[in-house]
Amino acid sequence: MNVVSSTLTAAILLSVSLFPVVTPMKASAQDAPALRLFNANRPLIIAHRGYMQFAPENTLPSFKLAIEVGADLVELDYYHSQDGVPIVFHDSTLDRTTDAVKRWGGQKIRVDSKTAAEIQSLDAGSWFDPKYAGTRMPLLTEALDAIQGAGGVTLIERKQGDAATCVKILRDKNLINQVVVQSFDWQYLKAFNQMEPRQVLGALGPPGTLADGSRPGDRPKPMDAAWLDDLMKTGAKLAVWNDQVSKESVAEAHQRGLKVWVYTINDPAAANKLLDMGVDGIITNNPGLLWKTLALRAAK
Ligand code: G3P
Ligand code: CA
Repeated sequence: MNVVSSTLTAAILLSVSLFPVVTPMKASAQDAPALRLFNANRPLIIAHRGYMQFAPENTLPSFKLAIEVGADLVELDYYHSQDGVPIVFHDSTLDRTTDAVKRWGGQKIRVDSKTAAEIQSLDAGSWFDPKYAGTRMPLLTEALDAIQGAGGVTLIERKQGDAATCVKILRDKNLINQVVVQSFDWQYLKAFNQMEPRQVLGALGPPGTLADGSRPGDRPKPMDAAWLDDLMKTGAKLAVWNDQVSKESVAEAHQRGLKVWVYTINDPAAANKLLDMGVDGIITNNPGLLWKTLALRAAK
């Protein structure tokens, strides 16, 4: 058994034995995965861009590994292509994780300057490891089919694109509250919430855009009561912050009925500090290692 397989196997065994899945007694709106996870009484482990430590980020192989390791949610990012198709990708340009520069020349080739067909003709795997040569960037719809179809729950991060397009995809696929949606653009979240108030939303912070469309400028970045008051105006139920949180600010969030997830935490010591503060979920590049961190805490 190789290192990846043994890590995955150990993590799966730990996650199943120490953190059993919360099985619903009967189907109801409260049993929808987004609400079940929101209400979970243990910290959640969320795989960042799939299992990006062991596979090329935001691709189907990365999502498959994340599901195999038992991640509670599988995070991905999306942009709209030039022809308006949501496509799974993290950067605003294609240069870092595809062969776009080699294929087309130039630099800083924007995702939204190419059609979905052009983008899907790129190799998004070789940069990571030659064994992933030929791996394509999935459309958002393809990623949802793969993750949800395999029993996972997707954490969709909107990088660019209107709310109506995402709402329509989720409604057409009967995925409202089968997934969670998050964004640094709190105006997008407000628009989403107005169209589809049932959907659980996460407000990423510190935000790029506030709910009223203004920019926060150089406001201090740590999560605090003022940010949380602004966040409440979006309709989001989750504050998804970086490590600039404190025991006090997590308690402030909980008093407002919000849950706090933190990104992107790969170091067990950092994770333990945040768990001591009471955070409800950890977004990580290495969900296997974070399962072990939770297991060791539970064994104390
Ligand atoms: O899920 C939170 C995290 O993904 C936000 O940062 O840049 O990795 O999308 P980024
Ligand atoms: Ca992201």
